Amino acid sequence: MFFDFAALPKRDRYKLVVSTIVPRPIAWLVTQDAEGRNNAAPYSFFNVLSNDPVVVGIGVGARGMGGEEGTELKDTMSNIRATGEFTLCLVSESTAEAMNVTGADYPPGVDELAMAGLTTAASKRIRVPRIAESPVALECRLFQTVPIGTHNLVLGEVLAVHIRDEFMLDATRLYVDTPKLGLVGRMHGGGWYARTTDLFDMPRVTPEQAETRRKEG
Ligand SMILES: Cc1cc2nc3c(=O)[nH]c(=O)nc-3n(C[C@H](O)[C@H](O)[C@H](O)COP(=O)(O)O)c2cc1C
Repeated sequence: MFFDFAALPKRDRYKLVVSTIVPRPIAWLVTQDAEGRNNAAPYSFFNVLSNDPVVVGIGVGARGMGGEEGTELKDTMSNIRATGEFTLCLVSESTAEAMNVTGADYPPGVDELAMAGLTTAASKRIRVPRIAESPVALECRLFQTVPIGTHNLVLGEVLAVHIRDEFMLDATRLYVDTPKLGLVGRMHGGGWYARTTDLFDMPRVTPEQAETRRKEG
């Protein structure tokens, strides 16, 4: 089937995109308002975009559901504008239910972390705390904001990363036990998620190896 986005309403474009671009990594974006009150919400329009400097990108929509947002900013966005700082805390299977609780559309000022029974730990390079239960937390400083329609693409420079000790195989060689992190990804629809357990290993090939394999059929 061919779908021309120019002929589709926003909600239908959203449906097609979120049910095909999967799995998407999920991170809590933790921010603080100007008075230092914490805010946390999950985001799956998220990935790392460059490594020198290390920059991550998050698509923050306007308030409302899926493809039907209005124009009002989410608390996450207002806070990033106010402070220029945030942490990104990766979501694992053991924290998935808590993540779901923090994703509800609470009024401003509600501490989603407390609602979900999560605790915070101090960051080292920025004022915004991180989620202690998260296996990996990135301390980020706002690099740039790119307005995209009703979304804002938030680009954040990663200043530091916290990886819980139990997930390090060899800290001196920077070997992380990635499968043990148990991270989850967002799949299609409102409530489908993927585990990162069904893995396979495929070493990179050289052009020569690729050519040999092609000839051998
Ligand atoms: C798994 C998951 C992923 C989400 N990803 C996004 C996203 O990428 N962008 C977005 O704007 N909202 C996303 N949301 C919705 C926000 O988390 C939700 O609107 C939240 O209430 C915003 O909180 P805030 O107003 O405190 O910033 C997601 C929700 C869930 C449960």
